[in-house]
Amino acid sequence: RSYKYISVDVDGFVALVELRRHQAHNALNLELMEELVAELERLDVDDDVRCTVLTGSTRAFAAGADISEMVDATAVEMKLRNQFRCWDRIRWLRKPLIAAVNGYALGGGCELAMACDIIVAGENAKFGQPEVNLGIMPGAGGTQRLVRAVGKARALEILLTGEPITAEEALQFGLINRVVPSELCVQEALRIAQVISSKAPLAVQLIKESVGKAYDSTLQDGMEYERNCFYLLCGSQDKTEGMRAFMEKRQPFFQGR
Ligand code: HXC
Repeated sequence: RSYKYISVDVDGFVALVELRRHQAHNALNLELMEELVAELERLDVDDDVRCTVLTGSTRAFAAGADISEMVDATAVEMKLRNQFRCWDRIRWLRKPLIAAVNGYALGGGCELAMACDIIVAGENAKFGQPEVNLGIMPGAGGTQRLVRAVGKARALEILLTGEPITAEEALQFGLINRVVPSELCVQEALRIAQVISSKAPLAVQLIKESVGKAYDSTLQDGMEYERNCFYLLCGSQDKTEGMRAFMEKRQPFFQGR
């Protein structure tokens, strides 16, 4: 499969998707987003893939939505363009998505990282929501996911000043999972992806789904949802295999059913 703006590499159960619009700091134009989301959805239904790592270049994960596509667009044109439909589809991916962020993750780039399930950053990474500098505001979750991740005060400082934060600050704020030397960033994300892909795929999927529920439900509803997922997994072959393997002191062989 050949794309204009992304490349895909599958090794074992792990896919690596790379944004390849390096000369524009991976600015997320409409075509790039279409390619990216179509490929993520394709990987999501591929039984041979269990986890995906998404990365950019050494200088930029992504510097945001493509400003040149928005500069002359009217509100009505933007509304009709409906570019967020594409973004919404990321939320419904069932398999874990890990962002490996080097360099700039700004605006839509930061929102794309936040749409991932786990974020690994290189020391040189910079996260920010600079939309306010352009006279606009985030539109793909920047005011929503950021608040949930770092709290209101920190989110407002990032959103209102437009100033980026460092990887170390992002870690301290709870926005990301870990900071590693930049040259090891993708490698570390792939390592985590390999660990995840050695687990029972259905359990992984339902854990992701259940954690997603924690975002937009009451504790009571979330607990109930979790319990039903738990019972569902108790009916899986992988539960039988996982528990038997433990009793027999051997490694389990999971098949995702
Ligand atoms: C279009 C972009 C771009 C962007 C960089 N480029 N970011 N083009 N949209 N978001 C292009 C530049 O125009 C330039 O093209 C080339 O990439 C290299 O960028 P430079 O600015 O020359 O590089 P540098 O001096 O290293 O500065 C890097 C940077 C800066 C700090 C990341 O490019 C920057 O501030 N970019 C904009 C960041 C931003 O405002 N993002 C939010 C966008 S709004 P040429 O052709 O000159 O070489 C948004 C809304 C989200 O994301 C809504 C949801 C979809």
